Amino acid sequence: MAAGVEDKEYVAGSTWTTRRSFFTYAGWAIFLGTTLAFVAKMFSFTGFFFPKVLFEPSKKFPVGYPADFPDHSVVTIKARRVFVERDGNDFIAISMICQHLGCAVHWTEEKGVFECPCHGSKYYRDGVNFAGPAPRPLYHFEMHVSDEGKLIVDTSQIVERDTVLTI
Ligand code: FES
Repeated sequence: MAAGVEDKEYVAGSTWTTRRSFFTYAGWAIFLGTTLAFVAKMFSFTGFFFPKVLFEPSKKFPVGYPADFPDHSVVTIKARRVFVERDGNDFIAISMICQHLGCAVHWTEEKGVFECPCHGSKYYRDGVNFAGPAPRPLYHFEMHVSDEGKLIVDTSQIVERDTVLTI
């Protein structure tokens, strides 16, 4: 009889202990899983440690050596959205951005003008507007020669229209 009671207590205790252990382990597993997921989320994104900014290319950039530009030419530097014009030893850099609503103008060699495909604005070779809705001339940018002899355009510096780089 005593052995039976012991067996019964043992069985009952064993079942209760097993169930409690299960929920204890399950609780710890959920807790640790949640904690690890939170820590992983915090530290797995490297962007967490860096400011949320856009990295833009420098506004001051080389466009090539003077000899790369034929005399009396308009060269399109599409990636930088500028035109570089050469007349003899004089160089100027003109913005590709239309002064109406910001479309990219293109150089039309046969007409000798800049034309905007969006609303028809036109500009003379020196960037002065003469047709269409553009309210003002194209911007001219500062140019200088680097120590290596390359032409540098600085689109952060707008200069007067009669400013030229003479080399
Ligand atoms: S954006 Fe060039 S004419 Fe309108």
